[in-house]
Amino acid sequence: MNETRNEGNPVIETVKEESVESAIAVAGHPLHAMTVHFPIALVIATLGCDIFYWWTGDLFWVRVSLWSSGFAFASGVVAGLIGTAELLFVQGIRIRVASWTHAVAAMTLIAIAGANWGVRLQDEAAVLPYGLMLSVLASIFTGLAGWHGGKLVFDHGVGLIVGPDE
Ligand code: HEM
Repeated sequence: MNETRNEGNPVIETVKEESVESAIAVAGHPLHAMTVHFPIALVIATLGCDIFYWWTGDLFWVRVSLWSSGFAFASGVVAGLIGTAELLFVQGIRIRVASWTHAVAAMTLIAIAGANWGVRLQDEAAVLPYGLMLSVLASIFTGLAGWHGGKLVFDHGVGLIVGPDE
């Protein structure tokens, strides 16, 4: 239905014409897609550590979550820098509203992940309740950012590198 409604719309036609191919890639493999798995997995792992700590009271989980939250933040920054380069350098990505929706959700996630690491660095006892609350929030934003990132690829064809033979 949207297709029919948008047919002949000059703005939509202009957006469709612009290239959406990934600019930050190694041998045809987009780097953002390769790096996003790390923050996604580590944010969820940190939530798991917090739940296990709440359940068992074993300080082992506090130590693990200090590392997992730190690497969740660091790998989120790396993935975010690559994503930002895609957003700024590729015209077809930059002019899509969906790209900015993903970027805002992802930047919020990175900020929460940083705070989650920060509270643990300051005081290990802060895991319950603040660390756990931040882990839940970070997981929700991981879902939002990941979902919108997926929509960019599957609905808009963003970031694909299609050769002339394909
Ligand atoms: C400033 C932050 C970010 C910006 C501006 C950004 C931008 C983008 C862009 C332009 C794409 C389309 C594919 C491409 O061009 O490579 C994308 C895809 C995606 N992003 Fe991000 N991103 C950011 C951070 C993140 C973070 C932290 C995550 C982790 C949750 C994430 C998860 C995804 C996923 C799952 C996809 C689809 C998979 C794929 O690329 O094939 N992004 N992002």
